[in-house]
Amino acid sequence: MTFIDQNEINKIRSSVSIVDIISSYIPLTQKGKNYFGVCPFHEDHAPSMSVSEEKQIYKCFSCGAAGNVFTFVENYLNVSFSEAVSLIADKVGLSVSIPTIKKKDIQYKEEYELMNFVLKFYQNNLNTEIGKTAVSYLEKRGVLEETIQDFSLGLALDKNRLSRILKEKEYSLKMLSDLGLIYEYEDGIYDVFQNRIMYPIHNLDGQVVGFTARCYLKEETPKYLNTKETYIFKKGTILFNYHRARDAIRLSKEVILVEGNMDAIRLYSVGIKNVIALMGTSVTKEQIEALKKLRCKIILMLDNDNAGENATFSIGNRLEEERIIFDIVRLSGEKDPDSYVVQNGKEALLENIKNAISFVDFKLNYFKKNRNLNDATDLAEYIKAVLNGLKNTDDAILKEITLQKIAKEYNISYDVLKEQLGEKEKKIENKVCLKTNTVLKDKESGYDKVCMKILFYMMNSKIFVKLYQTKLGLFPTKEHRAIANEIVYYVEKNKTINLADFISYAENTKLKQEIMAIISNEKDTNITEESMLELLEIIRKKIKKEEIKKLKEDIKTEWDVNKKVALLEKIAELKKGSVENESY
Ligand code: CTP
Ligand code: MN
Repeated sequence: MTFIDQNEINKIRSSVSIVDIISSYIPLTQKGKNYFGVCPFHEDHAPSMSVSEEKQIYKCFSCGAAGNVFTFVENYLNVSFSEAVSLIADKVGLSVSIPTIKKKDIQYKEEYELMNFVLKFYQNNLNTEIGKTAVSYLEKRGVLEETIQDFSLGLALDKNRLSRILKEKEYSLKMLSDLGLIYEYEDGIYDVFQNRIMYPIHNLDGQVVGFTARCYLKEETPKYLNTKETYIFKKGTILFNYHRARDAIRLSKEVILVEGNMDAIRLYSVGIKNVIALMGTSVTKEQIEALKKLRCKIILMLDNDNAGENATFSIGNRLEEERIIFDIVRLSGEKDPDSYVVQNGKEALLENIKNAISFVDFKLNYFKKNRNLNDATDLAEYIKAVLNGLKNTDDAILKEITLQKIAKEYNISYDVLKEQLGEKEKKIENKVCLKTNTVLKDKESGYDKVCMKILFYMMNSKIFVKLYQTKLGLFPTKEHRAIANEIVYYVEKNKTINLADFISYAENTKLKQEIMAIISNEKDTNITEESMLELLEIIRKKIKKEEIKKLKEDIKTEWDVNKKVALLEKIAELKKGSVENESY
């Protein structure tokens, strides 16, 4: 949901030139009507990104990135859409009321202020007499003053000191307990965190929303105590160190994903700043979305134990499903990246990153676990698992190499392997189509391409929207219809439509991905009414053909002669209609 007025967004957008803005970040050269540059959203040296002054959009012919001036800034600087809008408004000196970020701040202003106060309180405790033990615990772990400051580490004391001071400050006790800071019992209030080292946890925007607290006086269970789920602390939506790592991630175009907060803190403190932590071994949908927003390659570097290995497999599968580019590092010797760096140093870790392996290679090894490959049954199972693991890979060369590798290593016919893999791929393709049937997966179908083209035209001018409404009415497929409905709705509201403004609007809809794909797929710049009419006609004919086909099926199973005749008449009617229309 957005709080920014669409008109205001459009006004800002139309007062800047996309060529000016993009060329302030990357060099562009003019070729004909358009400008070209090296796309910053994927690894490349060739100028595959084109920027259109006329349409005020950019698209990359290689990676499919596409959008308007806001989406460019959003993705290039890794900022939110509203931040991008206000950045650009600033650039052209437009003072506009863009309350999105501020609204969110205002919404939880009191909570954030309180959390910051609590954070300061914990930080101060490290400077007290009792704090010395905690500081020396941290020192022993190699966490020194600078890192303590960078991560705002603190200390929770005992004797309910936090509760008492907060009560004195007349904070609402309900809010304190709702935020997971105190327990409120009949006989009084108690600190949730006592005698623990406090690691503040920030949400993706960088606000302190909770804490993870480690025991340090003795080993206790749980080792880490986290803030309970609250309305501002939702663990599944958070990635530790995300806000701090953003700049470094943008520069290195890579993010290292680790399990533990301490892993992230360690890497960051030795200067490997493009690191974020999952805070465990699972990954949620929201975290995946946040990772996608970084638009960079992930280096998955989880702990060196069984749990870390299994998590590498399951998280790897998730990343692969989401088409996120990633490689894997499995460290050896130490239990996690933190202790690896302590033992072997930064350079050794960087060397591991340099030698990161593909997910396919990881699986070649992973599937060997608990199998005796000298045993024929085990070996067969192993090969099947490997082939299964290959079917989701887009990388044809990697597939080829892997097939050759296992053919050679286990003395199996390459052709048999290839054939088996083909079968598996066919199966999965059918499944995908049946299950989701989304616009973009069904790439093969010409029908889909035509629909996408029509939708592209519609986003360019309301004339094409009108044509769609009068000549076709509705798309027969749900997915295309949904997008068309958005466009129609937009035109009804705004009385006009152009590509660049519609992209801003799409920012706030579920259909954003699909719309972006339509834009990046469209290479034909010659948009005319005639070609639109031709496209609509193709769809109309297709609908008719399907209808006739269905009626013919019905006739086959219909036993009632009268009904059969009625069906035949219907078919004749339809056929006649199409003849008439063909001459029209
Ligand atoms: N974790 C948690 N609760 C626990 C244990 C772990 O929330 N009881 C989360 C923490 O975010 C932790 C991560 O899981 O950072 C990884 O756990 P683990 O590897 O055990 O922690 P380390 O980062 O290795 O912590 P330390 O080195 O301080 O023991
Ligand atoms: Mn660990």
